[in-house]
Amino acid sequence: MGLLLLLQVLLAAAAARAPGAQAWGKEGHYMTCKITDGFLTSEASAAVKELLPSWANGELAEVCAWADKQRFRYRWSSPLHFADTPGDCNFSYARDCHDTKGNKDVCVVGAINNYTAALEDPSSPYDRTESLMFLAHFVGDVHQPLHCGHVDDLGGNTIKLRWYRRKSNLHHVWDSDVITQAMKDFYNRDQDTMIEAIQRNITEEWSSEEKQWEACGSQTKITCAEKYAKESALLACDAYEGVEEGDTLRDEYYFRALPVVEKRIAQGGVRLAVILNQIFSGKNSRLQSM
Ligand SMILES: *[C@@H]1O[C@H](CO)[C@@H](O)[C@H](O)[C@H]1NC(C)=O
Ligand SMILES: *[C@@H]1O[C@H](CO)[C@@H](O)[C@H](O)[C@H]1NC(C)=O
Ligand SMILES: *[C@@H]1O[C@H](CO)[C@@H](O)[C@H](O)[C@H]1NC(C)=O
Repeated sequence: MGLLLLLQVLLAAAAARAPGAQAWGKEGHYMTCKITDGFLTSEASAAVKELLPSWANGELAEVCAWADKQRFRYRWSSPLHFADTPGDCNFSYARDCHDTKGNKDVCVVGAINNYTAALEDPSSPYDRTESLMFLAHFVGDVHQPLHCGHVDDLGGNTIKLRWYRRKSNLHHVWDSDVITQAMKDFYNRDQDTMIEAIQRNITEEWSSEEKQWEACGSQTKITCAEKYAKESALLACDAYEGVEEGDTLRDEYYFRALPVVEKRIAQGGVRLAVILNQIFSGKNSRLQSM
């Protein structure tokens, strides 16, 4: 093994263990983007396909975890995955959207607005394929409640605990453990089966509220991402409730978290479609009028 290769392997191993905020695991991102697919206009779908890198084989879902692998190549992108708060169950853009050095707009909400604006502007200098891949990832992330968790514990990353018998932390439980457990318990270890169940809920169980997911309220920003972060910050407070470092989380917590996780994946998927439809086919009437 060449020295450079060895170094890369070591770095990759360190990255895999790094406690820094991760994101929905690859399953969560894949599911979010699969749901998006079903809500794209044909115009937006064609534009998205055009921008995808060849390794995606024409599948948006294939690129939705890409941003997590860029944290070492693009170190600056690391703080764009989350927006932690002081812990008041609320998110405020002015107060909370900055990195640890205080640079404004450097958080997941700022990033969603940044890449939406870049894609909407044909003269933007940013790489369009990368902008799409970052956008698709961050709309997923902002829906993961612990990505709008508390600053003090790095969005639950420092709350070490057990998920059943395995070592984990609260952030990771919400990124991955709940999803992989559910795939195993209810969906034959198959992402597509779980996606179908979530899609069925969107058209049946949640059909009356689904239009509200697309609404922005009075917000006049480029996207409604601030609203999504507020929702996550509120859900994060429930996620922290009754959990302490060293705990073992089991069925009770699992069944409390799973419906929230499934709904957030659904909302992330629908909303990413709304944003992409707005960018690529000018279908933004809903965003502006509701
Ligand atoms: C969140 O903060 C905003 C002000 O930034 C306030 O208007 C809103 O009521 C708060 N929401 C909750 C749930 O506390
Ligand atoms: C906006 O996107 C550019 C290009 O990827 C990046 O350099 C910059 O850090 C981004 N800023 C935010 C706040 O997302
Ligand atoms: C479907 O919705 C019901 C009711 O909200 C919920 O209990 C269930 O977990 C959801 N299932 C999926 C796959 O989203």
